[in-house]
Amino acid sequence: MYASQNIFGRVAGPKKEPGAENLVWPEQGLECIPDWVYTSEAIYEREVEKIFHGRTWNFVALEAEVAAPGDYKRSHVGPTPVVVSRAEDGSIHVFENRCAHRGAEFCRNSHGNNNEFVCPYHQWSYDLKGNLQGVPFKRGVNKAGGMPRDFKNEDHGLKKLSVATRNGVVFASFCEDMEPLEDYLTPEILKDFDVVFSGKKLRIHGYYKNEVPANWKMYHENLKDPYHATLLHSFLVVFGLVVAGNKSAMIADGKYGIHGTMASAKSEDIYASVSEDTRKEMRSFHAGMKLEDERLVQYIKEFDSPWSVTMQTIWPNLIVQREMNTLGVRHIVPNGPGSFIMVWTMFGYEDDTDEMTRHRLRQGNLMGPSGFLGLEDNEALKFVQEGVSKSVSGRSVVKLDPGNIGTSESLISEAAIRAMYLHYREVMDL
Ligand SMILES: [Fe+2]
Repeated sequence: MYASQNIFGRVAGPKKEPGAENLVWPEQGLECIPDWVYTSEAIYEREVEKIFHGRTWNFVALEAEVAAPGDYKRSHVGPTPVVVSRAEDGSIHVFENRCAHRGAEFCRNSHGNNNEFVCPYHQWSYDLKGNLQGVPFKRGVNKAGGMPRDFKNEDHGLKKLSVATRNGVVFASFCEDMEPLEDYLTPEILKDFDVVFSGKKLRIHGYYKNEVPANWKMYHENLKDPYHATLLHSFLVVFGLVVAGNKSAMIADGKYGIHGTMASAKSEDIYASVSEDTRKEMRSFHAGMKLEDERLVQYIKEFDSPWSVTMQTIWPNLIVQREMNTLGVRHIVPNGPGSFIMVWTMFGYEDDTDEMTRHRLRQGNLMGPSGFLGLEDNEALKFVQEGVSKSVSGRSVVKLDPGNIGTSESLISEAAIRAMYLHYREVMDL
């Protein structure tokens, strides 16, 4: 990967991978996506700087995960490790999980409760807001060594991020003057976000975590691509959860075009009735396929919403999932251009009956890395990454629903993907 090594065997400089400045978007514009947005290290580094560390609100936690003072959770903003902490006064703080002294990722537990954070390396200690409290041997020993006289603890706290919450969901930003979270999320997206997060207390049911060997943007594209849902997922098609012809929409926010809601309304029937013409287009439709336990796809109406499913992509790292009664958030943690970690947090509400909790858990089998839907998406994205990494054809085609950029009432549309790339190219200067 690297051009040369100096006499100490250290890396002298990057190899000639074309720097992002040399990459030119193809002349087809938004009707195509060049392969290098998924494979280039230079592009990835620019994304971390301009997007994840830039002017965006990033999901970091649910408030229910840090419910009491002293509770903390390890999380990420982009690839960067952070800690989400609730202080004694109830306020929530997010800071880098990087000791201000020598850079150690000091918080080692995925979550817990404590009075302070102590770096295991040299025992620098920080309060629950990320302020430096103690430095061992600050004045040296026997009048020798120690920190300079003018060393002030307040100059050496942890790197703190801006924090905003809405109805129990915690977001953070490296940007110090971010616009209010509500403005960032936009009214179109808040409409369905607030259906899941209405302010009711959440009950966390558990986590899944898996690596997807694909570029992180592909997950956004996948959920701005209702076309695939009608073709790839036998489960959705056969059991009528998302079927071409159902009342559906692919909503993009009108301000940035980066957030989206894929929405569909299931009919009352358990098994989809599909016309002969539509059926011919869908190889994934299997007439006669029956469920042993039909409760798996039973939708218990609990929300004031016309939709039985809403999958929200919130730029740059959050998916809010409401598929009938299974609820969850998915946190995207990018891991280089060709990989990301997906952290799934499944939840219900504190006032759910035991029966409702069991129903949510049963229906949760649709989701997660080996879920009846999740499995197929993960594999499809892996195939795409393999294709774009190894072939030389150069670009993919994004022409469905021509001329439209943003919201579409048709499922057979790539208009929301185009809206995302319109913004992406602006921010990334491509
Ligand atoms: Fe899918």
